[in-house]
Amino acid sequence: DTQIFDLNTDDDTEAMAVCGKIIRDGGTVVFPTETVYGLGANALDPNAVEQIYAAKGRPGDNPLIVHIYDLAQLDDLVEDVPDQAKRLAGAFWPGPLTMIMKRSSRIPDTVTAGLDTVGIRYPSHPMAAAFLRAAGRPVAAPSANISGRPSPTKGEHVLEDMLGKVDAILVGDESDVGLESTVIDMTTTPPTVYRPGGVTVDDIRRVIGEVKVSPGAVKPVELKEVRSPGMKYRHYAPKGRMVIAQGNLDEMVDKIKEGMAKLHADQKGAILATDETIDRYHKGLILSLGSRKDPAGMSHKLFDCLRAFDDLGATDIFAEDIPVTDDTLALINRLYKAAGYTFI
Ligand code: TXA
Ligand code: MG
Repeated sequence: DTQIFDLNTDDDTEAMAVCGKIIRDGGTVVFPTETVYGLGANALDPNAVEQIYAAKGRPGDNPLIVHIYDLAQLDDLVEDVPDQAKRLAGAFWPGPLTMIMKRSSRIPDTVTAGLDTVGIRYPSHPMAAAFLRAAGRPVAAPSANISGRPSPTKGEHVLEDMLGKVDAILVGDESDVGLESTVIDMTTTPPTVYRPGGVTVDDIRRVIGEVKVSPGAVKPVELKEVRSPGMKYRHYAPKGRMVIAQGNLDEMVDKIKEGMAKLHADQKGAILATDETIDRYHKGLILSLGSRKDPAGMSHKLFDCLRAFDDLGATDIFAEDIPVTDDTLALINRLYKAAGYTFI
């Protein structure tokens, strides 16, 4: 049975006390963060961590991020904190940044999937911080979705995916960022961004100078090139077949209308439009990602839109492309992955 706490109506202090104890006792708790909801367990307890993989149906070779609430916890978890990592921590922690560093011997193999590095994140969401503090342990937590589904950004998403599979769920507000944290490997020279996120590549460059961006950020990668195991899975996918229409606005709209017109009667077409184009579509399940002038707003809505298409039974989803800038890189990365890098 899953205990559910609504952080808008229930007593937070009581909820945190119960959930903190669940973690210390080796159980699993879903909690809100500023990026997406996380599915947490005591990172130092291999049996507890196993339950995360089971609840998500996650492949055992995809490592988990360890969440902290205090910089003092770092010493126990990593071999050393490189100088550049200290500077990024100073600039962006707490916040949507995960740094990969050499792991200490305290971290079980189940957390890192056998790698000699570990990803550490210090979330800024006040309820995440309160929960981690109540647990008093480093908490391993992937996104709280069933493996392969879009990450959860709302309480209803986690209830849909995790009810009956975890010991407790802390239901808070919608996630602010809406996309997972930026993942950067601090063990390479220069550091390498594997997954773009809320802290942008330019943000990072302003603090430490040169960084590499993994080619997988906006194009498919060959398996042999993959340095971060999560990159090789078709993540964030809706149940329907999704394609991205490319070109200028007129071309994209035309391609999408043509694609919709070719669908058979048993197919249910959906369109992921933008505020600038939505009035030009008239048939199918049509949702707007928001204004093209507001990358943060579009990022915030993406996973919710993809889940809405699932709920509405969309079999074929046509999405408009978005131009690549520093502010849209994370959004485009998730959009392209959701479409399996299929373009029209
Ligand atoms: O925003 C987030 O990061 C959320 C919230 C809950 O904190 N968590 C999250 O975790 O997105 P997850 O497991 O869904 O994604 C972690 C990503 C995966 O792509 C994984 O392969 C990569 O980080 N990763 C973790 N540890 C790694 C390591 N030691 N080396 C390379 N990649 C690593
Ligand atoms: Mg995930």
